[in-house]
Amino acid sequence: MTTSPRKVAFVTAGAGAGIGSAIVRELASQEYDVVITDAHERRCHELAQTLQDTYDREFLAIPLDVTDFDGVKDAVDQVVAWRGGVDALVNSAGWTKLQPLIEMERETWLRTIDVDLNGTFNCLRHVLPVMITRGGGSVVNISSIAAWETSTEHGVAYSAAKAGVTALTRVAAAEVGEHGIRVNAIAPGLIYNDFLLKVYPEEFFEGYAERRSRVGRVGKPEDVAALTSFLLSDRAGYITGETYGISGGVLPHG
Ligand SMILES: NC(=O)c1ccc[n+]([C@@H]2O[C@H](COP(=O)([O-])OP(=O)(O)OC[C@H]3O[C@@H](n4cnc5c(N)ncnc54)[C@H](O)[C@@H]3O)[C@@H](O)[C@H]2O)c1
Repeated sequence: MTTSPRKVAFVTAGAGAGIGSAIVRELASQEYDVVITDAHERRCHELAQTLQDTYDREFLAIPLDVTDFDGVKDAVDQVVAWRGGVDALVNSAGWTKLQPLIEMERETWLRTIDVDLNGTFNCLRHVLPVMITRGGGSVVNISSIAAWETSTEHGVAYSAAKAGVTALTRVAAAEVGEHGIRVNAIAPGLIYNDFLLKVYPEEFFEGYAERRSRVGRVGKPEDVAALTSFLLSDRAGYITGETYGISGGVLPHG
């Protein structure tokens, strides 16, 4: 183990084109020792190498599917061996496939719950005891405004899974608050990246910035990364158990 004065952040699904990798980059710029985990092995290593070249210090890449309970435990053990513990956890892994309820394949339902909800549980289950040993920490779970919406555009499985993430956040915060650990969630609206074109129909994006957003644009992964960084920091020391919407006014909540 190498000791480091920096805080250690563990980010899931951190090597894609969207929110996860923006959070990794933001935390790297904030001097965290970042552990980049992602189901995509090559991109995971490539991002760690890019950050190493940029900041001239080590970043740990761990290929990881969050649905693998034992795999998550192994990953957390690797991080403890690397830097002695975890100070910040970001559960960003999510998956969805749009199907109406009455046509939904059982596989779609199970996979969505497995990645979005069980994956978040798996990481909390293995990281929180490490944070307790360390004497504190902070968690951000990425939920979605789909948890609050009444529209059909995200599908029941995704909405139910993300609502589960919000409830999990609230109760986890109550359970571990006495250990100096805060647990919050973020519920983004549309945060554009090109991969979304494969998931949502074209109509979903048409006029979104002009008609639905109240700030004249769609969201950027960096918008969510900035809020994540704040919630993880000591400046958010009085905030726990909350889910913060970030949707450009599409679905204000509270
Ligand atoms: N993009 C949006 O509009 C939006 C809106 C609300 C919520 N969210 C949530 O934000 C998070 C990030 O979404 P994004 O769209 O920015 O994509 P992203 O690019 O951050 O995530 C894609 C990455 O997730 C990885 N991944 C997929 N399944 C995985 C698994 N089982 N284990 C580990 N890694 C896995 C992929 O390999 C890929 O690298 C998700 O939880 C998503 O549900 C996104």
